[in-house]
Amino acid sequence: MDLMEKVVSLAKRRGFIYPGSEIYGGLAGFWDYGPLGVELKNNIKRLWWKSIVYDRDDVVGLDAAIIMNPKVWQISGHTSSFSDPLVECKVCHKRFRADDEEVIKKHQEEHKEKVDWTVSKNFNLLTEVYLGTTEPKQKAYLRGEITQGVFVNFKNVIDSTRVKIPFGIAQIGKAFRNEITPGNFTFRSKEFEQMELEYFIEPDEKKSEEVFEYWKRERLKWYVSLGINKQKLRFREHEPEKRAHYARLAEDIEYDGPFGWSEFEGIHHRGDYDLGNHKLTYKNDEGRQFTPWVIETSGGVDRATLFFLIDSYSEEKGRVILKLNPKLAPYKVAVFPLLANKQNLVEKAKMVFDKLRLSFHSTWDDRGNIGKRYFSQDEIGTPWCVTVDFETLEKDSVTVRDRDTTKQERVSIDKLTEFIQTKL
Ligand code: GAP
Repeated sequence: MDLMEKVVSLAKRRGFIYPGSEIYGGLAGFWDYGPLGVELKNNIKRLWWKSIVYDRDDVVGLDAAIIMNPKVWQISGHTSSFSDPLVECKVCHKRFRADDEEVIKKHQEEHKEKVDWTVSKNFNLLTEVYLGTTEPKQKAYLRGEITQGVFVNFKNVIDSTRVKIPFGIAQIGKAFRNEITPGNFTFRSKEFEQMELEYFIEPDEKKSEEVFEYWKRERLKWYVSLGINKQKLRFREHEPEKRAHYARLAEDIEYDGPFGWSEFEGIHHRGDYDLGNHKLTYKNDEGRQFTPWVIETSGGVDRATLFFLIDSYSEEKGRVILKLNPKLAPYKVAVFPLLANKQNLVEKAKMVFDKLRLSFHSTWDDRGNIGKRYFSQDEIGTPWCVTVDFETLEKDSVTVRDRDTTKQERVSIDKLTEFIQTKL
C-alpha cells in the first residue's frame, strides 16, 4: 500500500473520515467525519480562530448564511466567471477538467481506441438550489466561497463594532462547488469547509503588497507551528491568466503530498474588486470616504485535516504512529487499568479518568494487554497513555507513557493534570 492508501484506510478504520452516504453506494465528492475526525477538525478550527481572532486586536468574527440573495453571486462575478474548463470524451462520455493535463493524459492512455474530445467549454461551479413551496421556485445558490458573506456584512460590522481600518473579519464555514472531477480523497470535494480572513486596508499599492507578504508569512508560520514539515511547504504564485476573477495577486501555500505539490491555502490580493462591486465604502476619522482594499487568506479545513493526517503518519518498528501535534490530537490522554479484572485497579483508574477528563478530552481502554492498547492509541495520535497499576494503590502515582519516545515516567496523581497541561 502507498502512503495515501494507508491514510485513507486508517481514516476509515479508526473513525476519522468515512465516504458520504456509504450504505447507499456513496456520493462522489462528499465525505463524513467520524468521532475522531470531528475532533481533529474542531481542533484545527479552534486553533485557527484563536490565532486569527482571539490573539489579535484587529480581527472580529462572523458567521453568515450559506444561502444568500442570488444577486450577491451576480454582482460578485461568480455566475459569469466562477468556472473551470470542461471537456467530454466522445467515446465514453466521461467529463474532465481540460486544464488537468495528468488526468487527460491518463484517460488517453486507458482508451484502446483514439480519444475524441469535445471542444473545451466553461462549466460554472456554483451549486444551484431551489427555494419555496409553490412553482415557480426561486433559484438560489449554495455559496461557492464563504467570502461573500463577509463583504455583504461589511457595513453591519462597521456600524455595530468599533473596528477601524486596518482590520479583518474572520469566518469558518461550509462552501460548495460542483467540481468536475472530485478526487484525491477529501482534497477536492463538492462540499467542504473554509477558514478565511478578509483583511481590509487603505488603497495603497506598496502597503498592500507589504500586508500581502505579512499574511503569507503568518499563515505559513501557523502550519509549521502545528507540526507540518517545513520542507514540504512552499509558495506558488499564480500567473495572471490563471488567477481567480477577483484577484490582483494570488499565491498558494502548497504541500508536497502523495499526489504531488497541491494547494493548501490561497493568499489573495482582491483589491477593491468586491467592495467596489457591492458599492460599499468606508469613511475614516478624517472624513475621507474610500473603497478599502482586501487581502484574503483562504484555507481549507478539510485539506488541513488531510495534510495533517498525511504529514503525521509514520511507521516505526511495526508501529503506526500519528505524530500529531498534541494540540491537534483527538484525545490528549488515554487511561488504562493494568488489569481489567481487578476491581480495585479499575476503580482507581476510573477515578483518574474522571479527574483528567475535566481538563482534557480523554479516552478509556481496558481491552487486551497494555502493548495492544499503546499500539491502538499511537495509531490515532494520543500523546499520553496513563496506566494505573499496583504501585498506584500504594503510592498514588501512575505511569505516563509518551507516544513519540515510548518513555514512561512515574507521576503522582495530584500532579497529573499539571504535568499534561505543561506539556500541552
Ligand atoms: N475565497 C477565496 C477562495 O475561495 P480558493 O482558492 O478557491 O479561494 C480557498 O479556495 C481554499 O479552499 C483552497 O486553498 C482549499 O484549501 C479550499 N478548497 C477550495 N476548493 C476545494 C474543494 N473542492 N475541496 C476541498 N477544499 C477546497
